[in-house]
Amino acid sequence: METTLENGILTIALSGRIDGNNADETAKKLSAALEGQEFESLHLDAEQLEYISSAGLRVLLKLKKDTKKQVHIFNVSDAVYEIFDVTGFTDLLTVHRMPHEISIIGCKIVGRGTFGTVYRLDNDRIAKIFNTDRAVTLDRIEREKDLAREVFLQDIPTAISYDIVRAGSSYGIVFELLEAFSLQDYLMEHPDEEDAMTGKVADILQHLHHAEIEKYKLNDMKQMLLEMFGMFGSFFAEDEMARLTGLFSDVPERTTLVHGDFHPGNIMVTKKGELVLIDVGDISTGHPFFEFFNMYPSFLLWQEAEFGTDIVKKDMMKALNTTTAEETERACECIKGYWNGLLRHYFAKADDGQLAKIESYLKAVGRFKMFTTIARMPNSPEKIEEVRRYKELLLAEWDKVPPVSEWWISE
Ligand SMILES: Nc1ncnc2c1ncn2[C@@H]1O[C@H](COP(=O)(O)OP(=O)(O)O)[C@@H](O)[C@H]1O
Ligand SMILES: [Mg+2]
Repeated sequence: METTLENGILTIALSGRIDGNNADETAKKLSAALEGQEFESLHLDAEQLEYISSAGLRVLLKLKKDTKKQVHIFNVSDAVYEIFDVTGFTDLLTVHRMPHEISIIGCKIVGRGTFGTVYRLDNDRIAKIFNTDRAVTLDRIEREKDLAREVFLQDIPTAISYDIVRAGSSYGIVFELLEAFSLQDYLMEHPDEEDAMTGKVADILQHLHHAEIEKYKLNDMKQMLLEMFGMFGSFFAEDEMARLTGLFSDVPERTTLVHGDFHPGNIMVTKKGELVLIDVGDISTGHPFFEFFNMYPSFLLWQEAEFGTDIVKKDMMKALNTTTAEETERACECIKGYWNGLLRHYFAKADDGQLAKIESYLKAVGRFKMFTTIARMPNSPEKIEEVRRYKELLLAEWDKVPPVSEWWISE
């Protein structure tokens, strides 16, 4: 049995038929393959697996019990998938179907994001192919595909997600082609539509923030963000960390959705002026406050940096997808308008005073992202001084934010 161990993942290849004739033998071979191996997750590669009978399924069941780990089975053919499906094994094991092979040679690139490059396949479909330099697991890719469907069922416009595919060594998702511009590009061309568009964005966001998906166990945004704070633990004393995390810990629990990466590059505007949400793979559960924390355009604070401004500006240009200083300034103004418009519409029930407070609180917590940019810069005495200076500012402003439940007034 072909076995590989890489990054804590033990992969075992299954082949041929597993039935009453060879089930015992297969069980022995699997035990031998597992013998003495230290691993975190078990992957079975079913690319060469032609058939599995109930005797074979019992072997897999025992394997799952014995390893006490999550077992993924990859590259499952349509015929074998049907067997897993009717027997309920798709609930027991994490079953990944064999992605269809496609070719993207000669296909036009219609978009690029942090994770994927988007190719036009034909008049109706695109393929979002995940860059291999980013460690996006097949699991995460499948979740993005499934979440797109779930979001659509909640009556939130998104592109139809068709299929998981493989193009060479990369995986991807085939989506419906949207004849649309990203909202970021659209607003640069139509600044006069800022108010109307941010109104529509706020409606989608409110809708999303009241929707629930019961079918999947989604990640909890609060938990993820608290873990993210932990990654910067070395910069803070224990009491400082407690000040930072306290505010987040106290945010009321919610089972409703947050998008997790809600920026105007992930919203498309169709020819009819309708908005369509894309890039839904980070959807999690949590209080809408966390959406706004994630969304805060921290580069709006770039003038607060006293050192490493070139790095801060480079980050900003990446976020805005700009190349020249002039373009960046224009895009920055556009995002400022977008952010203010969105807050005004989302918190439509807030009066001017309340809105100003909400804005200042979101700015205070949004400063954490600016801090992480500074903290990640290469070490030097100047950087260490800047970290110290900015940390003081961050904490001082953070302390002024009252518990979220006291000022959150969107519903
Ligand atoms: N269904 C689609 N139809 C047309 N263009 C798309 C579609 N999905 C994505 N794009 C384009 O590709 C870009 C990157 O896609 P996205 O899903 O946001 O990738 P990433 O996860 O890497 O950010 C988008 O900003 C958009 O311009
Ligand atoms: Mg995106």
